Amino acid sequence: MSLAIGVFDSGIGGLSILQALRAALPRQDFVYVADSGHAPYGERSEAYVIARSRAIVQHLRAAHRIEALVVACNTATAAAIHLLRAEHPDLPIVGVEPALKPALALSKTRRIGVMATRSTLASAKFEALLRPLSSQAEFICQPCDGLADAIEHSMQARENVSDTTELLAICDGHTRAMGTFGTKGGEIDTLVLGCTHYPFVEPQLRELLGPQVQFVSTGEPVARQTRHLLQTTGNAAPARTKAGGGRILLYCTGSPAALQAAARRWLPCEGVVEQLSF
Ligand code: DGL
Repeated sequence: MSLAIGVFDSGIGGLSILQALRAALPRQDFVYVADSGHAPYGERSEAYVIARSRAIVQHLRAAHRIEALVVACNTATAAAIHLLRAEHPDLPIVGVEPALKPALALSKTRRIGVMATRSTLASAKFEALLRPLSSQAEFICQPCDGLADAIEHSMQARENVSDTTELLAICDGHTRAMGTFGTKGGEIDTLVLGCTHYPFVEPQLRELLGPQVQFVSTGEPVARQTRHLLQTTGNAAPARTKAGGGRILLYCTGSPAALQAAARRWLPCEGVVEQLSF
């Protein structure tokens, strides 16, 4: 394996970012870690998420040749990316955050829904992102307790998240709490998926909210930013221009079943998931 990009999340959510990374960098090798033995991050303390993020980056650097890191988790980005950058100044690090600015550019009603974990919404980083934009639109922020966990379990149990009534019920509860969706004045016309797990329930959300609501997620901009960073930091791996790259190694700290099923379905990738014990 040539120089790889390390990617991590609390679970399968980061695969929604890895899909876009792979499309933008088709010959790049990736090493993906799903910290499913310690998930969900969104309902843990900031100190816990920082400790896990540090441990994963240490592991990735010790066990693999990593030329860049993508923190494919909004919750870990909010809690830990500044520390990871300070502790690994030689490593280009890209994070993800709820796409409030792109949503602002799309919304006509100026009412924008934001679905994210409780921890992301409570973070200082999110507050700093939201504050300068809040005079331009109303952002209705919904902490989606239980949703990432339900997506993980659904994938583990049925290898299929497209038709589960439990997921639909959880999505229904959270979207109802945000108010009325639609394109008329006073309605929410744009929904930010501020957790990397949530693109995997976009079909359920569309079913609930109707075709007019616009969804905003972060995979493609993060992939573009990562490609740009690799080009500008001079870390362009020669292997990227040759045939034979594009491998994906998959690891998890919990049961491999969910990641295995999700990788097959969403990437798709047939690689066997290895379990890590830290
Ligand atoms: N996928 C993660 C995020 O983007 C967190 C999910 C969780 O573990 O709570 O925030």
